[in-house]
Amino acid sequence: MGWNSWNGFGKRIDAATVEVIASAMVSTGMKDAGYQYVVIDDYWHGGRDLKGNLYPDKYRFPEGIKPLADLVHAKGLKLGIYSDAGDRTCGQQPGSGGHEEQDARTFAAWGIDYVKYDYCNAPDDEQTAIQLYTRFGQALVAAGRPMVYSICEWGAHHPWEWAAKAGGHLWRTGPDIADSWTKPADPPYFRGVETIGFEQQAGLEEYAGPGHWNDPDMLVVGLKGHSNIAGDGMSDEEYRTHFSLWCLMAAPLMAACDLASMDRATLSILTNREVIALNQDPLGQQGKRAAHNGAAEVWVKPLQNGDLGVGLFNRGPQPATVRASWQDLSISGSYKVRDLWKHQDLGVNGAQVSAEVASHGCAILRLSKA
Ligand code: GAL
Repeated sequence: MGWNSWNGFGKRIDAATVEVIASAMVSTGMKDAGYQYVVIDDYWHGGRDLKGNLYPDKYRFPEGIKPLADLVHAKGLKLGIYSDAGDRTCGQQPGSGGHEEQDARTFAAWGIDYVKYDYCNAPDDEQTAIQLYTRFGQALVAAGRPMVYSICEWGAHHPWEWAAKAGGHLWRTGPDIADSWTKPADPPYFRGVETIGFEQQAGLEEYAGPGHWNDPDMLVVGLKGHSNIAGDGMSDEEYRTHFSLWCLMAAPLMAACDLASMDRATLSILTNREVIALNQDPLGQQGKRAAHNGAAEVWVKPLQNGDLGVGLFNRGPQPATVRASWQDLSISGSYKVRDLWKHQDLGVNGAQVSAEVASHGCAILRLSKA
């Protein structure tokens, strides 16, 4: 769980912003809710010096990265950075291709805790992708500092089959998320939240587990169209559905909006601890679709102690009643039911659960054996 600069800030990322975001992560209660990593995405770079060592942009990161890492660590948080398997990043900044060991050592020396590793300007074939990700994964281990390794080749080379072996802790399963329910018309490589949430990760459940996760891309909650990515924004109802799906999918939760100026609705979505508890459940199982009937979908995530996280979703244009029978959920007997957005106990049920659900909305329930 954390925050990444790309979706909200893009090229505008600088040390002052990292400091403001880290402070806000603490003061808003995000840190207490579990958010930990502050990740600098593309465009932090200045260049390489005569010895080939990377350095950051001198105007936007005037003190360098190490003092920023110290500052972030002093707040009890962790710092992440971004690089690329090619010789240039997607933003045409210096990539780590050909400098893998040197850059991993640089990141370790700076006190970096997380590296997102992209795949622009790198060879397209799967074997080379596996080799380059493995090489950088080994370089991170050899650098001697624990760093989360986030693999970002957009799902193009079936990373769920090899990324964990390459040392990866999470891997993107698709192209970039848009701040939009449906796919925006342009540019073509963005995907809408509905498709990512309901389709992209289906069938990949078996590859996820503690320490190795399918990553459907970062959150767009609260961007409301003020972003660096495609899309005009979504309603709070849709942002709640987006967050709920990511929690049921055991997906990494990387917020993107400006934590220092987000509104109350955004904060209450991002810090709903009962929904976050589904995401962070120690079993680490990725939830999946258990039933669907037209626009109504039932998703289920097995939790520790025999509990279940259940999502009742309505993808349709009108409000609808969404129902899940015990048969849909493959359970029997009596279960206590709690609504995790209303924060209400709904009593004990023995055969089914149902809810009135707004268009593009959801009800998220926790079922515990009675
Ligand atoms: C894309 C990646 C985005 C962002 C961007 C930076 O390839 O999917 O999440 O990192 O590059 O240029």
